[in-house]
Amino acid sequence: MKAEIISLGASVPEKTVTNDDLSKIMDTNDEWIRTRTGIRERHISGEDIPDEEKIFSLSLDACEKALKRAEEMAEAGAARSFKGREDIELVIVATSTPDFSFPATACRLQEALGLKAAAAFDISLACTGFIAALGTADAYIRAGIYKNALVVGADALSRLTDWGDRGTAVLFGDGAGAAVLGASDGDSGVITSILHSAGSGAGALYSKAMYFNEAEKAAMAMDGKRVYDFAVRKTPEVIREALEAAEGQEVKFFVLHQANIRIIEAVAKRLKEPMEKFPHNIERYGNTSAASIPILLDELSREGKIEKGDLLCLSGFGAGLAYGAILLKY
Ligand code: ACO
Repeated sequence: MKAEIISLGASVPEKTVTNDDLSKIMDTNDEWIRTRTGIRERHISGEDIPDEEKIFSLSLDACEKALKRAEEMAEAGAARSFKGREDIELVIVATSTPDFSFPATACRLQEALGLKAAAAFDISLACTGFIAALGTADAYIRAGIYKNALVVGADALSRLTDWGDRGTAVLFGDGAGAAVLGASDGDSGVITSILHSAGSGAGALYSKAMYFNEAEKAAMAMDGKRVYDFAVRKTPEVIREALEAAEGQEVKFFVLHQANIRIIEAVAKRLKEPMEKFPHNIERYGNTSAASIPILLDELSREGKIEKGDLLCLSGFGAGLAYGAILLKY
């Protein structure tokens, strides 16, 4: 058995902030942001959403969409191990910006979604979070412990943004993505899942816990160049490691964490693969951290660009410094 993706869902806040909007509050401009990062706009949680709800409401919306699709598929007889949401036995949320220190966001979602029979916990691994969550759920399913799981990547890095630091403030957006997983003994599902931490560079990108007092708190600190160099070096390495399990089959898409279009281009070049195989939506969302991979997967699925049986390679990288890749048949 292994985990297969049954369905996907995603959610971003309504409020859009363009590069021009940012140029009104800091010394930056659309041209710099577009050419250095590829980003044109991002979605940011507005004041209308209470602090206690920011990650919760985005995650809940993404999960409801994914579960509704899974239930429609179950009704059509296409979801194998999943018959209905009461079959979900595990909820994992990857987030580094939870609304509460505890309970885990996963427990709040479990309650709101009525998933009574599930175990629920969070994972904190910044932009590599979704890879860690999906890999963990796959390991439980492979071990025969659970059959159906819900995994979520959700972050609102806007809550850690120092709006006075143009070097980081322009990069991030808020969002959530979710996947319903089921146990598969067929062709589709996770083939291999790899997670690494560099064991160095923990100080290259960090934000102190939110309970630090006002003076020292939270704003993100980043050595952008170091993170960039790490991503460009390590992402191709871990993708190559994952591809060893592909047995010569061609990957349709490399679905990378959306941090910077130049990182994606550099990875494509190092892998000697065409950019057409690297879908991206960073233009519209910025870097949504743990949410970027499931948001992009959801978009590809809804647009009919990925179909059952397609070979996909997902890869995430970021604070830690952590990085990973998952090769799967959709
Ligand atoms: N607008 C205008 N000018 C700017 C801005 C801005 N927003 N930000 C920086 N600049 C200026 C700098 O001050 C510098 O000016 P100077 O030459 O006069 O000193 C110049 O632009 C060049 O700055 P660099 O930092 O060298 O720009 P670079 O091309 O390296 O791009 C960037 C910076 C985009 C941050 C890049 O390093 C990067 O993408 N790094 C990776 C970051 C990342 O992906 N982090 C997230 C990881 S995921 C996670 O775990 C959260």
